[in-house]
Amino acid sequence: MSDVLLRFIHLTDTHITADSSLGHPAQPRPPLEGAQRLIAAVKKVPFTPDFILHTGDVVYDPDEGDYRLARDLFAGLPAPVYYIPGNHDDPLMLQRVLIEREPAPTYDQEFEINGVQIVCLDSNRAEDGPHTYVTEAQLEWLRAHCTAEDPRPFIVATHHNVLPSGAPWLDDFMRMRNGEDFHAALLPARDRLRGVFHGHVHMVGQRTRDGITYLSAASSWMQFQCHPGQVETIPDPVARPGFNEVVVMRDGMYVRHHYFGV
Ligand SMILES: [Fe+2]
Repeated sequence: MSDVLLRFIHLTDTHITADSSLGHPAQPRPPLEGAQRLIAAVKKVPFTPDFILHTGDVVYDPDEGDYRLARDLFAGLPAPVYYIPGNHDDPLMLQRVLIEREPAPTYDQEFEINGVQIVCLDSNRAEDGPHTYVTEAQLEWLRAHCTAEDPRPFIVATHHNVLPSGAPWLDDFMRMRNGEDFHAALLPARDRLRGVFHGHVHMVGQRTRDGITYLSAASSWMQFQCHPGQVETIPDPVARPGFNEVVVMRDGMYVRHHYFGV
């Protein structure tokens, strides 16, 4: 019996816009070009993933035309895409236009693929910056799915970074403010939890606590730096855009970082 249960692609922070004049001085190539190269790179992996996980900031700013553009672009991927809204998304517009479903006020999802339990949590609550929090109702919902008794391997995904990293920019400006409560909700399931996948930080990174691993993927557009003591948002002119290939096994997980040029 194969130990491999599930292979998926984790991509994030595509910031798609049809406006090629929008962008950032640190990454003059428009986000749309990054998304197009991302899709071309994912299509080149030599296997068919079971699904694609997009951990948010699908578009640059909420715009129905840009969501239709994203929908048509991602339709070219070789597997179904599961989206989590980011702070640059409008969760209602994302559901209505991109996913073409009746919008729910909070877009939390729980599903199973190949015997693996997957929970995607919509972490967009704060209105006054890129940080966030999750509500007590969401934590209750999360706790209900994080049982120790469930025998299935388990994957969790959300947009925001959850635990402190040592850089004030990430910890105070960008992070889930009640990330410790989020982490505590996961603890009963930690023995079967393979990883918590997130975006938002525009860099490849890994954080562990209590045997739980949090992993971020590169943006397909621009990357940021993160150093101890860093308080400001600093673009990384060297890091390349990319995505993660994730293999969920009966006894653990394998993650490979892929990069491409923009
Ligand atoms: Fe982003």
